[in-house]
Amino acid sequence: MVKPIRKAILPVAGLGTRFLPATKAVPKEMLTVVDRPVVQHVVDEARAAGIEHIVFVTGRNKGVIEDHFDRQYELEDTLNERGKTQMLEMLRHETMGPGATSFTRQQLPLGLGHAVWCARDIIGNEPFALLLPDMLHKPTNGKGCLAQMAEAYAKTGGGNHIAVYEVPPEQTDQYGIVGLGDEVADGVHRIAGMVEKPKKDVAPSNLAISGRYILQPEIFELLATQERGAGNEIQLTDSMLKLAREQDFYSVTFDGAIYDCGSKLGFLMANVAYALDNPEIADTFRPELDALLAKN
Ligand code: UTP
Repeated sequence: MVKPIRKAILPVAGLGTRFLPATKAVPKEMLTVVDRPVVQHVVDEARAAGIEHIVFVTGRNKGVIEDHFDRQYELEDTLNERGKTQMLEMLRHETMGPGATSFTRQQLPLGLGHAVWCARDIIGNEPFALLLPDMLHKPTNGKGCLAQMAEAYAKTGGGNHIAVYEVPPEQTDQYGIVGLGDEVADGVHRIAGMVEKPKKDVAPSNLAISGRYILQPEIFELLATQERGAGNEIQLTDSMLKLAREQDFYSVTFDGAIYDCGSKLGFLMANVAYALDNPEIADTFRPELDALLAKN
C-alpha cells in the first residue's frame, strides 16, 4: 500500500528582499490576501489535502508566524462574551491543534534545499509534502493543488510529484522548467528532465515548477551533502535531479491560477482575484474596482 502523506514542510526563512520595505519587520508570509495571511491560505490548502502536521522552517524575525497559529485565549474569551460565535468558530477551525505544528530554525538562509533539510528529523522516514508559502495556488474547481497532487500520488502508487503550470515561452529563463515523458494518468506525466532557468530556445517545455511537491525521504540524504549550486545556494532542484536517477518523478499540471506573493505584482493580483471570489465583499468590490479602472 502507498504510504500516506501526513506531514508538510513550509519553508518561511527567506528574507523577502523583493518586497522591501514591507518585509523589513513583517514576514512576507504574514502579508494579507483579503482577510488572512498568505501563509494561512497555504496551510488551509495543506489541511484540505489531509495533512496532519506542519513543519515551519523559520528564521529570525518570523516569530509572529508561530503566534498566528497559536490559540489566543483573551481574544476567544472576548468574542465569546460578545456573542460572536461565528467568528470564534472560524478562528478555532483555522488553528492547528496542539502538537500539530513544529517550528525549526534554518539559522542561515542558505537556500531552499537547505531549508528543507532542516526539517529532516521532524519528518523522519516518510514521504512528505513541501509547499512554498509565498506561492498561492487558486484552484479552478475548488480542489486545492496539493489535493490534486495527492490524488495523482495515489494513482501512480507513490513516487515523487511536482506541480507545474504553463508560463509564457519567453519567460522560461525565470523558472525551474520540466521536460515531460509519457502521460500516466489524466494531467499526470513522467518527468523526463528538469532545468533551472533555461532560455526559450533550449527549454524542454514551458511548464514551470510551481512550488508544490510530494517528495520521498531519500531526498534528505542527498541534501545532506550541502553542495552549493546556482547563486551559491543549496538548491532543491540539484538533489531532485540526483534522486530522479533512482526514483520516479511525475508532474501534475495544476488546474487553476498561481500568484507569486513574494513579488509586488503577484501579491496585488492575488488580492484582486481572491476578493472577486469572496462572497462577503465580491458584490461591493467589483463595481468599486470597475469604477477605479474607468478613472485611471
Ligand atoms: P524565495 O527565493 O522566493 O524567497 O524562496 P526569498 O529568498 O524570501 O525571496 P527574495 O528573492 O529575497 O524576495 C522560496 C521559498 O523558500 C524559502 C522562502 O521563505 C520562500 O518561501 N526559503 C528560501 C527559505 O526558507 N530559506 C532559504 O534559504 C531560501
